[in-house]
Amino acid sequence: MTIKKAITLPTSPPLGRKKMGCIGIFDSGIGGLTVLKEIVKKLPRYDYVYLGDSARAPYGTRSFETVYQYTLECVTKLFEMNCRLVILACNTASAKALRNIQQLDMERIAPGKRVLGVIRPTSERAGKYTKTKHVGVLGTTGTVMSDSYKIEIQKLYPDIKVFQEACSIWVPMVEYDEIETPASDYFVKKHIDSLFSKSDKIDTIILGCTHYPLLLHKIKKFVPANVKIISQGEIVADSLADYLKRHAEIESKCSKVGSLDFYTTDSTLSFDKVAGRFWGADIKSKQLLINRK
Ligand code: DGL
Repeated sequence: MTIKKAITLPTSPPLGRKKMGCIGIFDSGIGGLTVLKEIVKKLPRYDYVYLGDSARAPYGTRSFETVYQYTLECVTKLFEMNCRLVILACNTASAKALRNIQQLDMERIAPGKRVLGVIRPTSERAGKYTKTKHVGVLGTTGTVMSDSYKIEIQKLYPDIKVFQEACSIWVPMVEYDEIETPASDYFVKKHIDSLFSKSDKIDTIILGCTHYPLLLHKIKKFVPANVKIISQGEIVADSLADYLKRHAEIESKCSKVGSLDFYTTDSTLSFDKVAGRFWGADIKSKQLLINRK
């Protein structure tokens, strides 16, 4: 893989230093790059393997069982690729598959290793920001229907009210590069208005989908200036740094060469084309076929 601008990390281990344990970042497709980017900024010494299941994206509209099965297959691959720790950067996968994988599969597929999601750290942060105790969540249909944010936030902060809005069309808008268009203004406004029609006291909004940070400038146009908009990248990076500090048994097994490898389950050509916009620099991915021998 090659990275031409912005982030300049070696992509293969310097001579004599071997990657013994990478950190895997999983997403349904390219969106998780917004999370990986912040993680690499904060923790550049580690080795990262990014896997986007583009062949089967989007996950946002799929059933619980399907998202669980797809996520489990990808996470298993990442552990086979020598990851010590895997982050489900995808909100939909975190909402629908994380708990099952942690409780039912980890002992069998990767004993002693860890899989973490993005919903808990984001919920913790939202609870700290809100003054009105009214939090809005923007996400895929799957994430919203799962009520995962609502459940997690209210577990941590029982007095907070959570209002959700599924913005299904935002993911294709970003993927097809329809961000700077009047249609995007229309659909961003439509969902923001719909969220605020549920409560006008919302003072904190979670962007609960890895694609949405690319729409941040549009979202800001339609959200009152006093409302805090939470993008997940930095939060997940902070939470990972904190996790590694608290878990020496995992941290000590993570290799620190500073490499980055990108994999997609679909065409590398189309992945690289769109991924470059998320990453802010050229990306050269490799293909990883799932469930095909
Ligand atoms: N990456 C997904 C998420 O964060 C959204 C894209 C999809 O629907 O696959 O929820």
